[in-house]
Amino acid sequence: MRIIISSDHADIALRQQVAEHVRTSGHTVTDIGPMTSDSTDYPKHGEAAARQVAAGEADLGIIMCGTGQGIMMAANKVTGIRCGVCSDPFSARMIRAHNNANMLALGARVTGPALVFDIVDAFLDAEFEGGRHGKRVDMITAIEG
Ligand code: RB5
Repeated sequence: MRIIISSDHADIALRQQVAEHVRTSGHTVTDIGPMTSDSTDYPKHGEAAARQVAAGEADLGIIMCGTGQGIMMAANKVTGIRCGVCSDPFSARMIRAHNNANMLALGARVTGPALVFDIVDAFLDAEFEGGRHGKRVDMITAIEG
């Protein structure tokens, strides 16, 4: 799959490790930075990644900030984006299986590297189950108006 990855300044090293991990798993990764740890604003990085997913230029997105929360909120403002913050692999699997999430948010100050890789793998390996979950995801989409 084509995976877009971004973060704010809180996560540069971990984001680059995640990008390498995802590449090693056989996906095509586009890491849109930032490339330095200068202080920056997470909404613009969440939005930039989300717009690429919404436009179909990436299949899924992985975004990171200190908690994962702020960048997730920004991404979810983009029409067509369903992004959840996860700090455990079960939730990461379920947001794809039941919620058809197209973006995963991670908190670099919450979740360490070993667990982050398991969370990312759970997210990328899961598939949307459809069925009754499809109707509910359609209801989320309908809220966008
Ligand atoms: C940056 O200090 C921090 O606020 C940001 O990374 C994130 O945690 C916001 O949700």
